[in-house]
Amino acid sequence: MQSQATYNYNVVRQFSIMTVVWGVVGMLVGVIVAAQLVWPQLNLNEWLHFGRLRPLHTNGVIFAFGGCALFATSYFCVQRTCHTPLFAPWLASFTFWGWQAVIVLAVITLPLGLTTGKEYAELEWPIDILIAAVWVSYAVVFFGTIAKRKTSHIYVANWFFGGFILTVALLHIVNSAALPVTLTKSYSAYAGVQDAMVQWWYGHNAVGFFLTAGFLGMMYYFVPKQAERPVYSYRLSVVHFWALIFTYMWAGPHHLHYTALPDWTQSVGMIFSLILLAPSWGGMINGVMTLSGAWHKLRTDPILKFLITALSFYGMSTFEGPMMSIKTVNALSHYTDWTIGHVHSGALGWVAMISIGSMYYLIPRMYGKTQMYSVGLINAHFWIATIGIVLYIASMWIAGVMQGLMWRATNPDGTLTYSFVESVKASYPFWTIRLLGGVMFLTGMLIMFYNMVRTMAGEKAYEAPVVAPAAAHA
Ligand code: HEM
Ligand code: HEM
Repeated sequence: MQSQATYNYNVVRQFSIMTVVWGVVGMLVGVIVAAQLVWPQLNLNEWLHFGRLRPLHTNGVIFAFGGCALFATSYFCVQRTCHTPLFAPWLASFTFWGWQAVIVLAVITLPLGLTTGKEYAELEWPIDILIAAVWVSYAVVFFGTIAKRKTSHIYVANWFFGGFILTVALLHIVNSAALPVTLTKSYSAYAGVQDAMVQWWYGHNAVGFFLTAGFLGMMYYFVPKQAERPVYSYRLSVVHFWALIFTYMWAGPHHLHYTALPDWTQSVGMIFSLILLAPSWGGMINGVMTLSGAWHKLRTDPILKFLITALSFYGMSTFEGPMMSIKTVNALSHYTDWTIGHVHSGALGWVAMISIGSMYYLIPRMYGKTQMYSVGLINAHFWIATIGIVLYIASMWIAGVMQGLMWRATNPDGTLTYSFVESVKASYPFWTIRLLGGVMFLTGMLIMFYNMVRTMAGEKAYEAPVVAPAAAHA
């Protein structure tokens, strides 16, 4: 048995492996749904058609891949920066097995068509209860560790992880309130436009907290670590934190422009989305400027390339988002592939790239190695993934603007110039390019999987369990 002060790397290791495994699975489903849009005959049967696989993709990449990455990195960071092992290790272990059970249940129920129909909250009520139990346990482990820390201050990455954990608990519990009628069917506690508002308050904050705040926690730990430089401005990071979490809360109605939602509510959503540009860019600049004096490392260090490219995509998508929230712009972009392009510049460019970079830092350390089995393969992964993203998002932007313009084009007599099916036909070349980009990104994940397995199997350079002496550096 290790002494009391040994960091709990077991659960970090488990979540890290599953990040890569679910990354491969979730993105494979993404590639399949992308292929189904190019070749409709791939909609084989009722269980495997686009409508059922699409939510499987979104749940797989957001909650399984992204979720495991967040668990792994937050558990690692909180121990290291608080100089103390995780609070309640058995509960941490429960969060791992509980979260995997949630994912497996999603993999079974979504293809069966069991869904609440709420985007990003499709899972039925018994699974929702399990999610709530796992999430509350996560909060207990995380904040318990903060409470028993041996350092005087709480490092900024933990503020972001903590904000993400608390808010996701609130969002999930409020949005999942429902009346169960059978084991597999429930009705939302809200009706009509209130239901839509609650759903998009949840949906947008799922973006703001699940897909952003938690990953910013990752950025604040792994960018300084890999660059071997302190965070550019600690003061900016504190302003960044409070401004970001306050502003995100009010932006949800931009998902419901031109709907039955009261018009003033839509305008509030739009204004807060525009304001959101400032804290988002403040955070991005803080991350990128951390490289001050270490820019040369970008030439040789592929892990830094992942982390800094992720921040560039974060900057791009948080510029694009506020623009799309302007009602007149949204009138063009809504329902089109422009939204899909925006989603994936955030999801692939920011979420996936920052997670992949962080995992390349973390995995060798979890297995007592100084670096991954092959740095060359990390480099190959970086380039194939980056080119894949560019193909994906550029094709979706062009397709999106084209669709929006085709749908609104009218003849002099007021009739529509194009039928809907003509816009579908015109989209095929772009969907094919997107598929190619997706295949490239998935190939990168397979390279990562191979590199991870070889790293785990290789000779140990040092003993993995690391003791946390009071004077240890984070
Ligand atoms: C190999 C990589 C990927 C491929 C090929 C892919 C493909 C797709 C496709 C084809 C769709 C459906 C688009 C439509 O309905 O027209 C989609 C939706 C979506 N994907 Fe991905 N995806 C990938 C990676 C990711 C990742 C890593 C994330 C998140 C971290 C993500 C998040 C989403 C979300 C949130 C949606 C729903 C968007 C919306 O409803 O507006 N995807 N993806
Ligand atoms: C300042 C930050 C951001 C703002 C103001 C913003 C704004 C928007 C807007 C206006 C839409 C289109 C809504 C519609 O027409 O239906 C949208 C969709 C979306 N955004 Fe963003 N965005 C931001 C950042 C991000 C980031 C960083 C990510 C991902 C990591 C992201 C993920 C998504 C997703 C998943 C959707 C599709 C939701 C759906 O309809 O299913 N956004 N965003």
